[in-house]
Amino acid sequence: MGLVSAACFADVGNDVVCVDKDASKVDILRSGKIPIYEPGLGDIVERSLRAQRLMFTMDLNSALKGCRICFITVDTPSDGEGKADLKNIVAVAEAIGDNLEDEIIVVTKSTVPVGTTLKVKSIIRDRLKQRGKKQELVRVVSNPEFLKEGDAINDFKKPDRVVVGVESGDDVAASILYELYSPFMRKRDKFLKMDVLSSELTKYASNAMLAARISFMNSLARLCDKAGANIELIRAGVGADPRIGSDFLFSGIGYGGSCFPKDVKALMNVAREYGERLPIVEATEDVNNEQVSWFFSKISGKFEQRGGLSDKIFAVWGAAFKGNTDDIRESRAVKLIELLLLAGAGIKLFDPEATPNVKRLFGNKVVYCDSMYDCVNRANALILCTDWNEFKSPNIDRIAEVMKQVVIFDGRNLISHVHYPVGTKYYGVGIPSKE
Ligand code: UGA
Repeated sequence: MGLVSAACFADVGNDVVCVDKDASKVDILRSGKIPIYEPGLGDIVERSLRAQRLMFTMDLNSALKGCRICFITVDTPSDGEGKADLKNIVAVAEAIGDNLEDEIIVVTKSTVPVGTTLKVKSIIRDRLKQRGKKQELVRVVSNPEFLKEGDAINDFKKPDRVVVGVESGDDVAASILYELYSPFMRKRDKFLKMDVLSSELTKYASNAMLAARISFMNSLARLCDKAGANIELIRAGVGADPRIGSDFLFSGIGYGGSCFPKDVKALMNVAREYGERLPIVEATEDVNNEQVSWFFSKISGKFEQRGGLSDKIFAVWGAAFKGNTDDIRESRAVKLIELLLLAGAGIKLFDPEATPNVKRLFGNKVVYCDSMYDCVNRANALILCTDWNEFKSPNIDRIAEVMKQVVIFDGRNLISHVHYPVGTKYYGVGIPSKE
């Protein structure tokens, strides 16, 4: 998401240089293409490149020349134990310290455990000291990002908050960041100045809170399934309370992506390091881990009387971790496909954007389809895993024409509103089945 920030800063007139150590990525970007699917991003990159406000390089040293603010946006993946792996952050901090000549503000935008920004400062200052430079050349700021994949440009250009953590008394850094973000806060001031540690933790708290809402609804959905209640009606009822709000209450096969699973784990780890436990966050993860298996059991249960899952063909709609992205990292769809394959089922898959990524993962274990209707052809059941727009109002007659019998497992409760022909079997997550 560093590219989104870079492109949006350039789009309002700033000169931005992006540094990456991956030569092929830099080449693609220099040619005006983008290596990921993110609606709207390609246009901004292309026009900023043309206006020479956006540049791509592998050379950190030249990029730092004349630069006032340097954002660190490298990833912080989970290490084997669920901690955020900071090796990329450390490497960038060292490289900055080794190359810096002029005064600069270094901003951690990556999602980092509490205390990391100050660690970045001491790494850079140590390196400056070794080179006989003034340590005061660098000051640090924490400025987490709150961008959703698939809608990142909109989130950046119309932020609901700009969280900026500065060291006590550093009004200079705060005011420079305020100036930088002002074009995105013209209607309303959304600048939240705080201390560095609170800023870092605000990011984890936000993601964990959103993930907790989803897990809360998913565990209630399982109760609804047993009790015969409807989670969609409950969602509407609960979400109507303005104190609760209606966002992020959709149940399904669980949350995935490169952020929630990793950040929930990392937050629990940070807590442990400080001798604390966060039981609500632990439960959030547990529920999410169980959700795909729960949905898988629901599918296999329905096929018990029909000889089990082996040699059945399932049409899977959606592999991306959510709609509007080609990202399959920690995708629940991928986990479900793995369980189905293990049980001996055959998989036909359609995803509007993520197919190349899925191919790299499953190779010829899965049949890849060019359209959602090819995908259901002769399948024993359709399993909907991702909330892509084009799945929302499918042509049920076309589906009925090519399926042996219309059997649908809707892992996102996305098409419960469809008027199904008699004989259709429809199963969702915490909503009444149609049989
Ligand atoms: C998330 C946050 O929403 C962003 O605010 C944050 O900046 C970002 O992580 C990050 O840390 O970089 P993202 O991972 O792109 O954004 O995706 P979300 O839209 O949050 O969806 C995450 C998962 O939750 C998806 O698998 C989605 O299907 C699932 N979800 C979302 C639900 O199951 N139910 C909902 O009601 C909403």
